[in-house]
Amino acid sequence: MNGHVNSLLAGKTAFITGGAQGIGLAVAEAFLQQGAKVIAADIDQRMIDAARLRLDSLAPGRASVVSLDVTDQDATERCADALFSEGGVDIVVPNAGILALKHAIDMDLATWRRVLDVNLTGAFLTATSFARRMVANHRPGRIIFTASLFGVRGGRENSAYSASKFGMIGLMQSLAAELAEKGILVNSVCPGQIDTQMIRALFSERAALRGTSAESLQRDFEAKIPIGKLGPLEELAGAYVYLASDLARYVVGQSHVVDGGWQVG
Ligand SMILES: NC(=O)c1ccc[n+]([C@@H]2O[C@H](COP(=O)([O-])OP(=O)(O)OC[C@H]3O[C@@H](n4cnc5c(N)ncnc54)[C@H](O)[C@@H]3O)[C@@H](O)[C@H]2O)c1
Repeated sequence: MNGHVNSLLAGKTAFITGGAQGIGLAVAEAFLQQGAKVIAADIDQRMIDAARLRLDSLAPGRASVVSLDVTDQDATERCADALFSEGGVDIVVPNAGILALKHAIDMDLATWRRVLDVNLTGAFLTATSFARRMVANHRPGRIIFTASLFGVRGGRENSAYSASKFGMIGLMQSLAAELAEKGILVNSVCPGQIDTQMIRALFSERAALRGTSAESLQRDFEAKIPIGKLGPLEELAGAYVYLASDLARYVVGQSHVVDGGWQVG
């Protein structure tokens, strides 16, 4: 954060899952920069502790980081209850996700189920437990799912992940149709390849298998993206700020691809 606070989201409170690192943390920082209060939730205690320190130093008193497994319905309901008894939430970002790259014919059922459970059922639980309380409190707001470019097209070794993100877009469009009349606008961001721990781990794993370096794999990959680089986190986060803000008052049920031109390149 550059120290300068803008006010596109002043007075708003945002809840972001998978918010202790990567895209979720970058969205938390961008929302704080626009004047919002932020509650980030994550399952990884080590990252939670680090994110707490980081967000607190960026925006003292406006950020908190809580422990939550998005696949746990009771815990999600308790979390939503607690936040609505403390003033409520205006912007919900179901973002927690995991990746499992395998050819479909080699995929074991446990992995398939885990990816669907975290990425799709977890997002369903987050979105609906908060939306139910927003509706009950006559509170307008936004729900912004983190889907993926693999939510609008499939890809090699992406069957479970892509199925979970296509499912998420179906969920998003249905919720968008149901909730718009309540003043809750629902959309998705579909990131391309963003520079996060998830992607760096993938390059390292692939490099080890192919006997090359992660750097050279990354260079090869970046050559396929028209803009020529992995997506910087802060450049992706702008899409969430836009969808959360008054600038997007007529945007409903859309999948907003942010991929440096990868899809068209
Ligand atoms: N990085 C990319 O290029 C990219 C591209 C498209 C979509 N995405 C999506 O963006 C989202 C964030 O990914 P990222 O790249 O920042 O990855 P990341 O691994 O850096 O962050 C994901 C976070 O989700 C948390 N998480 C995992 N399971 C959870 C659970 N059950 N409950 C609560 N939190 C949980 C992790 O602890 C982690 O902090 C994911 O949904 C991912 O599918 C990422």
